[in-house]
Amino acid sequence: MEAERVQAIASFSISAETIPAEFIRPETEQPGITTYHGLVPEIPTVDLGDPDQENLVRKISDASREWGLFQVVNHGIPSEVIEKLQKLGREFFELPQEEKEAVARKPGVDSSIIEGYGTNLKKGDLKKSWVDFLFHNIWPASRVNFQFWPKNPPAYREANENYAQHLRRVVDKLLTTLSQGLGLEENTLKDVVGGEELEYLLKINYYPPCPRPDLTLGVPAHTDMSVVTVLVPNEVPGLQVFKDDQWFDAKYIPNALIIHIGDQIEILSNGKYKSVLHRTTVNKEKTRMSWPVFCAPPAEMVIGPLPQLVTENNPSKYKTKKYKDYEYCKINKLPQ
Ligand code: SIN
Ligand code: FE2
Repeated sequence: MEAERVQAIASFSISAETIPAEFIRPETEQPGITTYHGLVPEIPTVDLGDPDQENLVRKISDASREWGLFQVVNHGIPSEVIEKLQKLGREFFELPQEEKEAVARKPGVDSSIIEGYGTNLKKGDLKKSWVDFLFHNIWPASRVNFQFWPKNPPAYREANENYAQHLRRVVDKLLTTLSQGLGLEENTLKDVVGGEELEYLLKINYYPPCPRPDLTLGVPAHTDMSVVTVLVPNEVPGLQVFKDDQWFDAKYIPNALIIHIGDQIEILSNGKYKSVLHRTTVNKEKTRMSWPVFCAPPAEMVIGPLPQLVTENNPSKYKTKKYKDYEYCKINKLPQ
């Protein structure tokens, strides 16, 4: 039997003006109750084209310590490249259901394969999330499996390959700047997360309109297990960030990229940089979409606090382990 997709549940729910019970979050998680509406502190925006590197280091390092999330403008990725990525991704999700199922993940075959089109089934996470998604690696070439890339629309592949090339430059610059912010040589972080073998996994989130966005979530609260995540949103806001015990909306800035500091940078920096707790809400009338790329070390890479940052006064706060073991514990909700 085929899995039920949220896209289909959504069209049914809109006419019923209600959502199935398995999507209703407990009150402690409902965005209608838990979103902060007071004076909102601005999530930092950083000009990545700033010619003053010292200034850039300070901005990115402050944002990564205080928020673990920031938006970047002047990142150098042409807007046409991003618009094509978005247009072709949207066209894939607008295809008839059978065509999307052609790249579906096959649950039960091999649960370590995360690539493909899918929907979260209930499992341990008791509630369902209002989202369908597509995962596939986009870099390095040795990790790309075109079996999981849509054949339709035909220009999908070129648009995604193009974006991947541009994105690598942005990620290199982020890692250089984050290294300098720790007082380290500029190649330090890139080298310890795999250098040119750093893996880029794209996810497309498709959040259909929802008649009760106050009761449900697109993605429940989590931190990313990546090194960094670089996200392209569409124009429908929905990302929320947890800071000072409150949930804040991230505002939409046209052409900006949203950078999440992931667990691996928090670990490497021995807690100086913070992996950001975030979640997403959905919209009553509009489809929200987002394109996060999770940059993660190869499975066998061993990650732990950088020895340069561990001292008698600042002892190691995290275990050192292979990335694949970290991932296994995180996915199965086991202690690290
Ligand atoms: C996620 O954190 O997985 C999704 C974030 C978003 O859609 O903005
Ligand atoms: Fe995330």
